[in-house]
Amino acid sequence: MKTRLTEILEIEHPIILAPMAWITDASLAAAVSNAGGLGTIGPNAGMRTVTTDVEETGERLRSQIRECRAMTNRPFAVNFVVGVPGWDRDFSDRCVQVGIEEKIPVAIVSQGSPAVYTRRLKEAGMRVVHVCSNVRHARKAQETGVDAVVVSGTEGGGHSGFDQMTTFCLVPQAAEAIRIPLAAGGGVVDARGVVGALALGADGVYMGTRFIATKECPAHENVKQAILQAQDTSTMAVRHGSPAGLKPPGAGDRGFVEERRGSVRILINDYILNAMAQKGGTLSYEDFRSVPGEVDPNTESNRTVRAFLHGEIQENAITVGQGAGLIRDVPTCAELIHEIMEQAEGVLDRLDGIRGK
Ligand SMILES: Cc1cc2nc3c(=O)[nH]c(=O)nc-3n(C[C@H](O)[C@H](O)[C@H](O)COP(=O)(O)O)c2cc1C
Repeated sequence: MKTRLTEILEIEHPIILAPMAWITDASLAAAVSNAGGLGTIGPNAGMRTVTTDVEETGERLRSQIRECRAMTNRPFAVNFVVGVPGWDRDFSDRCVQVGIEEKIPVAIVSQGSPAVYTRRLKEAGMRVVHVCSNVRHARKAQETGVDAVVVSGTEGGGHSGFDQMTTFCLVPQAAEAIRIPLAAGGGVVDARGVVGALALGADGVYMGTRFIATKECPAHENVKQAILQAQDTSTMAVRHGSPAGLKPPGAGDRGFVEERRGSVRILINDYILNAMAQKGGTLSYEDFRSVPGEVDPNTESNRTVRAFLHGEIQENAITVGQGAGLIRDVPTCAELIHEIMEQAEGVLDRLDGIRGK
């Protein structure tokens, strides 16, 4: 399938592996790229321990980039989380520098303003894709000179903005607002999602949750099983970054970072239900994301390691999207991408059959 996105990223199928901290490592990224999509190396890729050392973070990334290159000669991406000065920005700055030195082909920049890194990345010769959660940010990313925009709705696992836009409403509005290629994320897990995203005006899709349940994903078996057992209502969104609720008054003026981080979607489990009961029925990400006294410099905490890598999923939160309710198997990335593209033809045939009736 050829779209503006496949052309600009020089890939075969319009499918991007969305970055997922700790679990989108070199092997998973290479598997997706080898299957014709765009694999992405995420924050803390390939690691099992948290480091507070900026240099070490950069060198860890460098080794993942080199590993990925050894496994694929196709394009792949690295995720740079823009982050917050004084908290995680130093880590991001170092990772961007390493990405430039290693001449990575594509940067996927998220959770912050496109004004921070776009120019440097473009000058280094990369394709730059910026992740947004509303139309204003998509426009701003385009103005800053990125090559493509991702808009990702609240259905998705992990962070999406304060605005809680659904993919179904966000994608067509973003498609109307920008001229550059657009990928749709949040809830896309199969061929229906891919064709739906294209129908809404996107040029491709950005999939996270679906790729957790693949053979190459280093997530613990317990996480994959939890996804297989998930139903439509198994996840919830909780606020992150503001004490005042999902969209506090004036949120639009509060800066890009907070808006993108505004909420985070997690699987509902006993740990979350207990934490909620203790908080009188309300919950914010800050209430449960960190282990008290432990540092969390690289956007995801020790709890994420415990849950995603050690499989302690009943004692920690796991970030998973609503699309989990549709996931029923754990294929290889090649099987998954092949099946999605093959079934997309079937979905298009079905629509063709409806036309004119
Ligand atoms: C486990 C997990 C970890 C994530 N970590 C990151 C991250 O490090 N950086 C980022 O930009 N987005 C992160 N996200 C968000 C995804 O990149 C993407 O927006 C989302 O998965 C798309 O929706 P979907 O899960 O329905 O496919 C994460 C999502 C999940 C599920």
